[in-house]
Amino acid sequence: MIVSDRMTTFINSLDPGNPEYLDRLEEEAIADFVPIIRKDMQAFLKFMMRLCKPRNILEVGTAVGFSALLMSEYAPEAHITTIENYEKRIPIARDNIAKAGKSASIDLISGDATEILPTLTDTYDFIFMDAAKGQYINFLPEIMRLLSKGGILVSDNVLQDGDIIESRFAVVRRDRTIHTRMREYLYTLKHMEGVSTVILPVGDGITVTVKE
Ligand SMILES: C[S@@+](CC[C@H](N)C(=O)[O-])C[C@H]1O[C@@H](n2cnc3c(N)ncnc32)[C@H](O)[C@@H]1O
Repeated sequence: MIVSDRMTTFINSLDPGNPEYLDRLEEEAIADFVPIIRKDMQAFLKFMMRLCKPRNILEVGTAVGFSALLMSEYAPEAHITTIENYEKRIPIARDNIAKAGKSASIDLISGDATEILPTLTDTYDFIFMDAAKGQYINFLPEIMRLLSKGGILVSDNVLQDGDIIESRFAVVRRDRTIHTRMREYLYTLKHMEGVSTVILPVGDGITVTVKE
């Protein structure tokens, strides 16, 4: 936890909540150990949907469709393209999208984002990066190509539950590569020309980047 549990609980307790179908989907995902955005990230995305009113959203990392459906709920005019490579989750996500009546506004592309991103030709005014953390830095050149001028990129889980500030050697061995790559991702975003990035301690840590 980056912010104390009590503070997070307090902030979350003030949220007016989501429609019932999203609550049900969230409960199912948690029960099935599917990693989906936390309450504080949900509140942030809801706010961003209201603020930016995006028309064309790209999401990397669908899981079972929860965040795509949440974005669609709060930005109903938006078309959403979402990418997922875990075969077991793809039919579940498609089913959840269909049950919510959102098949026309949410396109799920199955496959590895490394291969899918270079094939996309549209531009997107909002991109939500929520896939394998160690790959963010590899996705970045394509993400920047796909982000429209003035567009917003939100990346989730960038502070690794606080581990990012630890020395590489204080992090358990299996997480060291991700730790190195995430630091590189944060440095690159903060120093890249033509974009402006803020790092925020929301949930597991997020970046918000605007393309100037
Ligand atoms: C944290 S989950 C996404 C949660 C989802 N955004 C939500 O909150 O409802 C990350 C997902 O990204 C997928 N993923 C990881 N690496 C990927 C890649 N290279 N291409 C496509 N999907 C990937 C994983 O299979 C996983 O389902």
